Amino acid sequence: MQVNRRQFVKLLSAGTAAMAGARQGRAATASELAQDADRPEYHFLAPRYWMNDPNGPIRWKGKYHLFYQWSAQAMSGAPMQWGHAVSEDLVHWRHLPAALEPTPGGADRDGCWTGSAVVQNGVPTVIYTGVIHQPGAANHDDEWRQAQMLAMAEDDALLHWKKLAKPVIAGPPQGMRATGFRDPCPWREEDAWYMGVGSGERDKGGCVLLYRSQDLRTWEYLHPLVHGKRTGSPAPDAVDRGDMWECPDFFELDGKHCLLYSSENKAMWATGVYDRKEHRFTIERRGWVDHGGLAYYAPKSFLAPDGRRILWGWVREMRPAAAYDAAGWAGATSLPRVLTVDAAGQLRANAAVEVRKLRGEREDVAITTNTHMKRRMKVLRQELGVTASKTVTVRLLMRGVPVWEMELNADAGTVRCGETSFAAAGSRLRIYFDGSVIEAFVGGRDAITSRVYGLKPGETELEVTATGAAAVSLWEMKAISRDRLTT
Ligand code: FRU
Repeated sequence: MQVNRRQFVKLLSAGTAAMAGARQGRAATASELAQDADRPEYHFLAPRYWMNDPNGPIRWKGKYHLFYQWSAQAMSGAPMQWGHAVSEDLVHWRHLPAALEPTPGGADRDGCWTGSAVVQNGVPTVIYTGVIHQPGAANHDDEWRQAQMLAMAEDDALLHWKKLAKPVIAGPPQGMRATGFRDPCPWREEDAWYMGVGSGERDKGGCVLLYRSQDLRTWEYLHPLVHGKRTGSPAPDAVDRGDMWECPDFFELDGKHCLLYSSENKAMWATGVYDRKEHRFTIERRGWVDHGGLAYYAPKSFLAPDGRRILWGWVREMRPAAAYDAAGWAGATSLPRVLTVDAAGQLRANAAVEVRKLRGEREDVAITTNTHMKRRMKVLRQELGVTASKTVTVRLLMRGVPVWEMELNADAGTVRCGETSFAAAGSRLRIYFDGSVIEAFVGGRDAITSRVYGLKPGETELEVTATGAAAVSLWEMKAISRDRLTT
């Protein structure tokens, strides 16, 4: 059994505040973590223990800052903090002390959950969800009291944040029986700040609640920006059922508006039209942000100063909780992806060009009909590019046994990866292998994240087989730190 987001929250409730009953996991030493071949070497991740959603990416004073949900003292049961890292180039990250921690007695005393960062009057400001645990609440949806909170940066390194003591929005609109109320995403329009908050209603589907403010402090509730439908799922938990949309992210891109949200264990995108007068979003097209299902969740984007919309997502564990507890770490962050929307309203995602900076030694191989290429991986850090004329199959083998496979059929326009199949655009695969993380892009449009554990450098082989001609490039990637980001 693996622990999904819901179960993790339940585990949190089992031991929140005083950490009594926390699932400590193994306090692996830094050197054990640094040598753990499952731990990625060029995907961003927390120094240790559990991480989930990326939070509040922002560029400030020439540097990129990324925050993330972090259980910093135990695998679970410790209240969530905002972990913090800084980068000059989007790929090399340096850990900084946690930016936000729960305030004893405050409205975020049991956790600083997901949120966003904006600049208001020249001051970087974060809006996030503060939670108070209410065990035994009559209604399961009320177990975590959720309020939107504000904190302002006190220095340009964004190390110190001053919180407003009281929430800026104490709870969902009056009269609404909300399944949740969290993960605020603000944006600026001409006349004011607007903000979506992830929510939903039992058996009515998830929604994004829309608020307006002049100063980020006083918010007026307008109406749902968009509302989903009843899914009919019998799942007891509102997020699993689709009656609660987590982590909304709403922005304009290439002449359309785009909403991202996470629910039913997957991250969705929806593109459509935003009526700026009525402030309502009409969805025209939708799809999965990543075809990896459970392996990818809660993505968060930001607008880089050069105009690119850059996205990170939470790469989840796909192994049993006992296995990652023993490893002493869980979760990673996907590579920075650049989003675009094509003329048909389809969202496209591709790895940011900055990732190429990590390329080391390169090998090019031309595969002719019915030949194949096989390479032993000395390190578990590779980028593979393949352009196929017909069908191409990429396989990972551990001691000769196939452990992962992806097949692109360029003629049929389909991809299969394990049990997942989807329609593919074009004939190009770009696959990033990094420890237990495999992040693949198909035709510069579709992404799929998977996890494979227990690979050993020197005992793992990469095999590419094609039914027609194929051009292959293989790069050894450089690690972004000397110790798998454990310090
Ligand atoms: C998504 C999520 C958010 C919440 C955060 C808590 O994974 O459940 O809705 O704010 O994680 O860590």
